[in-house]
Amino acid sequence: MSVLLICPKKSGNTFTVCEFVSKHAAIDLKVVNEREHYRIDDYKTIILSSGVYMGKPHVNLTKWLETITKKEIDTSTKFYMFMTWFGRGKSDKTVMRKIDSYLSRVDAKLEENYSTCFGQGMGLVRMGHPDSTDLEKTLNWVKALGK
Ligand SMILES: Cc1cc2nc3c(=O)[nH]c(=O)nc-3n(C[C@H](O)[C@H](O)[C@H](O)COP(=O)(O)O)c2cc1C
Repeated sequence: MSVLLICPKKSGNTFTVCEFVSKHAAIDLKVVNEREHYRIDDYKTIILSSGVYMGKPHVNLTKWLETITKKEIDTSTKFYMFMTWFGRGKSDKTVMRKIDSYLSRVDAKLEENYSTCFGQGMGLVRMGHPDSTDLEKTLNWVKALGK
């Protein structure tokens, strides 16, 4: 399956899940921690990922989204979102809206089917996450997208 997983940095909760999923679903993983342009025209399914930071996605992800062009995206290319978070309010939905507006610049959109899992931080909050259940849940979600 031509599936690409995009992760904003090579450390942290989101990367832990992305690395696991990439290995076990045998899909490509690209960390977009520089403002480089990375060709995505070979992929029909692109899964974006990020932590949630005060209702915002990671800046590396949005900077990378600014580099993609209309001509490298096929009209059948589907974009999905995976987030790690504390589970605060509707901050996941806020990130979805922000990412969707970045994609609209290239006439693309986020699919409504998205996935989240908890990610530890700030000392004791959601400690132990992502755990093995989170990893398996995300892996199964990704595998189902490729079918
Ligand atoms: C500065 C900061 C702001 C955060 N804001 C939110 C938030 O608005 N909603 C939420 O549910 N979690 C929030 N979190 C929790 C993170 O989204 C969570 O720990 C996530 O797993 C971080 O991903 P990362 O380890 O890949 O950077 C915040 C964490 C930090 C450090």
